[in-house]
Parts: sequence; structure tokens; C-alpha cells
Amino acid sequence: MRKDIQPLIAGLDIGSSQIRLAIGQMANRGEGEENSELQILGAASVPSAGVNRGVINSIEDVVSSVSACLESAERMVGVPIDSAWVGISGLHIISQHSKGVVAVSKVDNEISVEDVHRAIEASRAIATPLNYDVLHVLPKYFTIDGQSNVKDPVGMTGIRLEVDSQIILGSSSQIKNLTKAVYRTGLNIEDLVLSILAAAEAVLTPRQKEIGVMVVNIGVSTTSLVVFEQGEIIHTAILPIGSEHITNDIAIGLRTSIDIAEAVKIEYGDCTPGQISKREEIDLASLGAPEHEMIKKQYLSEIIEARVEEILQKIDAELIRIKRNSLLPSGVVFTGGGSKLAGLTELAKKQLRLPAVLGYPLSVITVTDKVNDLSFSTAVGLVKWGGKMLSEGWNDTTKKGWGLGGVSRAGSSLKKWVKALIP
Ligand SMILES: Nc1ncnc2c1ncn2[C@@H]1O[C@H](COP(=O)(O)OP(=O)(O)OP(=O)(O)O)[C@@H](O)[C@H]1O
Ligand SMILES: [Mg+2]
Repeated sequence: MRKDIQPLIAGLDIGSSQIRLAIGQMANRGEGEENSELQILGAASVPSAGVNRGVINSIEDVVSSVSACLESAERMVGVPIDSAWVGISGLHIISQHSKGVVAVSKVDNEISVEDVHRAIEASRAIATPLNYDVLHVLPKYFTIDGQSNVKDPVGMTGIRLEVDSQIILGSSSQIKNLTKAVYRTGLNIEDLVLSILAAAEAVLTPRQKEIGVMVVNIGVSTTSLVVFEQGEIIHTAILPIGSEHITNDIAIGLRTSIDIAEAVKIEYGDCTPGQISKREEIDLASLGAPEHEMIKKQYLSEIIEARVEEILQKIDAELIRIKRNSLLPSGVVFTGGGSKLAGLTELAKKQLRLPAVLGYPLSVITVTDKVNDLSFSTAVGLVKWGGKMLSEGWNDTTKKGWGLGGVSRAGSSLKKWVKALIP
């Protein structure tokens, strides 16, 4: 069996609690996504500084923590890394629906790849809010002469080609702060990728995307989600609620410090109080509290359950918005550190009336167990995303040039997007 070994790809996830870097390469055993596997050769994480609520508040602190993370990952792989695929998230991200319309150019009215590119490019040219930059243009479906829901229009015949796209935008200043911080570590940016899209890349199979599935990443202060159907992204959202809200509730409920509350959550957190005996108790002193204090485990679980139910309710509200509540056959896949809470999938199944599982990075061969972790999905997904883009012909001329004052060259990379997003 021939194995094409590809160049090293790095995925950098600048999270609110940890900065994580995964380095890997795609090994192709043949054509097609199912024949490519990801080998992770190095992974590192360091506590993050200078990031709050997914947003950079000190470039200097981010530079030093990213540098530390990079150094430690480079030591693992034994070679210097000069560029990375970088995740971007936060409440500044917005998504807009857009339509692009073009006349089919060929005289015989056969739709060409160029027509599709032009249609997508046209959908990109929406009136973006001031001080926002386009991160992704995600074509959802095409319409040819009024016939909607066409998935792949190339080769079909028509006069008028329309595309319905979802445009993902981020605040220009947030994008600048992020890119500035990364460049200052000496790393080049291959591209910025919405973190939840990368995470989905790591934890989903193509089949799940086809059937209909949602990925939910529970982070520190935000919960991001993406919904796929027929292989396409149909919805994304970033909700302003995350795992730190649970910690805060515990701190208030148990009248203890945030640090103790966080330790209690990680050690004993569970969101199914019905399954916990009334007699079970925890001594807060065992988690670093200054004095012995016994708390009922069931009470702790009730506090957590209330907040998780609220998070699930907000997730369901997003499904209701797109009319998919209790209607996604492949259900919900939970990832991110906040999903490590015991009983989460059980509660989610009940409340969302959908199958629910935990999403660990899939089809990954790794030299380090570190990446088989719910909180590493985004970093691993970024490497997968990079691998996919490289196999589609991503190169220096298709780069967006984030350092050159924004998205000036984004248009040229669209070809790759189209290829990557249309099966
Ligand atoms: N075992 C656990 N049980 C419950 N919660 C946990 C556990 N481990 C970590 N968490 C919570 O997960 C959150 C961190 O998740 P994660 O590491 O995915 O965030 P991040 O990527 O650093 O930040 P973000 O994506 O929000 O910018 C923290 O709030 C932490 O309390
Ligand atoms: Mg994260």
C-alpha cells in the first residue's frame, strides 16, 4: 500500500482556558476522504493568558503563552513549525444569509465551475456591517432557473444561477488582535477558521453530516454549535453561556470561592441529581478549602442540572429557529471541555429528544494520548481542516493574507472553498 506523506500541518486553538496546538500530517492511502487518515505527531497545551470570553484582551500575554505552547509542541516533533491554521471564535462572530445571482456564461447554457465561483463571489458581496470581515462563505444550495435545492450545479443547464450562502463574519479589530498576536510569535497564519467548524471536522463522519447532525462545543464562557444536513452547514451560532456559568452557580450555591467551585465541578460534577444518593457527601477541604465543610453531592448536582438545562434550552431554541428541533437523525455530538460533565448526554437526550453522544476526535492515529480529549477537538480539527485544504490545492497564492490588513485576497481562495464544500 502506497502512503503519500504530506507536509506537517499545525492547528492552533487559542481558547479562554487553554492554548492548544496540534501538529500532524495527512496520510493518504488512496482517493477520497475515507482513505485519508490523520496522524498527530505532537500536541501541547498551556494555560491561556490574555484571552477572556474568547476575546483577546492582552496581545502580549497571548504572544507569550502561544510561544510557550509552540516551543513545547516543536520539541515533540523535533522540527520548527512556521505556520498554523488558527481557530477563531467569540461573541463577535455573526452569520448572515446571502444570495448571489449570475447569468450563466456559456452560450449552450451549461453551468461551469467558473459560474459557480461567480455566484458564490456575488453572494459574498453583501452589505457587511461596518468593521466586520468575512471569514467564511458557505454555499448552502443552488437554484437554477427557479429550481431550488440543487447541490452541485456544474454541468447542469440553465440561464440563471443563484446560490444561497451563509456568510460568517468577525469583528475586524478582533481579527487584527488575533492575527497580530500569532504573527508576533513568528508563526504565519495559513487561514483563520471558525473554531466550531474545525471541531466538527474532527468529531463527525461524512455520513453523520449527510444524515443531519449538530455539534455543540461547550467552552468556558460560550457554547458554539453547528448544524449539518445533506453534507452542508445549515446553521451556526455562538451562545453567550458556558461552563464558567456552572462554576459561578456552584460558588454562589455552596458559598465558596470560584477556585473551589471549579475543582468541585471537575471532580464531582454531575447533572443527573436523580441518580445520586441523598447521603453522599463531599468534604470541601479535600479540594483545597481552608476548613472542613460537608456538602451534599445531590445538592451540587441540582445546581449543575439547573444551569445545564438552561444551556440545553438555548441549544433547542436554535434548533427551533431552523425547524429541526427533535428532527436531526444523527442527533447531537457534544465536545469541548465543558462536555466532560457526567450525565450530560443523558440529560441532553431527554431534553432535546435527540440522540446525544460525546465527540472525541475521529480517525486519528496519534503518538500522544493528549489529543484523545474532548477539549482537543478544535486543535485536531484545525489540522484536519488544513489537510483537507492542502489536498484541494491550497498554496501561497490562495492564502488570504491576514497579515496584510485583512481579507484583501479572500476572493482568490474561494475556488478552494467551493471544492471543499461541495461534494
Ligand atoms: N471534568 C470536567 N467536568 C466539567 N467541566 C469541565 C471538566 N474539565 C473541564 N471543564 C470545563 O471546561 C471548560 C474549558 O473547556 P475548554 O478547554 O474546551 O475551553 P477553551 O477551549 O479553553 O475555551 P473557549 O473555547 O471557551 O475559548 C472550563 O470551564 C472547565 O471548567
Ligand atoms: Mg475551545
